[in-house]
Amino acid sequence: MSASAPVITLDGPGGAGKGTLAGRLSQWLGWALLDSGALYRLVGLYALRDGLSIDAAVDLASAVARARALDVHFESGAEGQRVLMEGDDVTQVIRSDEVSQAASLWAANPDIRAALLDRQRAFAGAPGLIADGRDMGTVIFPDADLKLFVTASAAERARRRYEQLSAQGVAANLSRIYREIVDRDERDASRETAPLKPAADAHVIDTTGDSVDTSSRKIRELVAARGWLGTS
Ligand code: DC
Repeated sequence: MSASAPVITLDGPGGAGKGTLAGRLSQWLGWALLDSGALYRLVGLYALRDGLSIDAAVDLASAVARARALDVHFESGAEGQRVLMEGDDVTQVIRSDEVSQAASLWAANPDIRAALLDRQRAFAGAPGLIADGRDMGTVIFPDADLKLFVTASAAERARRRYEQLSAQGVAANLSRIYREIVDRDERDASRETAPLKPAADAHVIDTTGDSVDTSSRKIRELVAARGWLGTS
């Protein structure tokens, strides 16, 4: 990909801090940001809204057709990216635990993944792209210029989610959150199509026990070494 606009991929399990780090990278470099998880969350959302069953061939066909034609816009704002589906702001609703589970289920389907493939590649372009997901460095952008695999222990990710929900005043159960995270990891890592795993040439960033600033610093060094930060 070096001949064209550069791509940095960030893959890893949910709750490891990828989204925050991808946002920082995008700010430092002024490059576009692809939140590929949001695309799978949109599939989960319309599947739930329309009562689609992944086990019914007719429902799967309709979910695939809708994924191909998906009308989605990412808009950057002060609080990160807003996600619009068919003009409807779904930024918050796609973060619910219900949609997370549905997204993970539908994301395991190869036809759904194929339907979203070209759409994701189309995000690449000048001056560069930060691609956040599970298979960015392995499947979507195998020739990316820098590949990061951002991870953290399941217990730490559960604690972060619990604290996030508590801060929002939402009643949460730590052991249930932990169980859901382990189940989702297991499903994302064991699926046949594009399982969650580091690319052979990825730099592994383990954020367990590290602050966002500490993890950011590690990534900034890798980016600076490639000369993308100019003289700053
Ligand atoms: O990163 P996230 O939590 O928003 O992702 C939502 C779901 O989509 C998650 O279960 C993993 C799946 N996903 C995927 O299979 N491939 C991607 N490139 C991004 C996300």
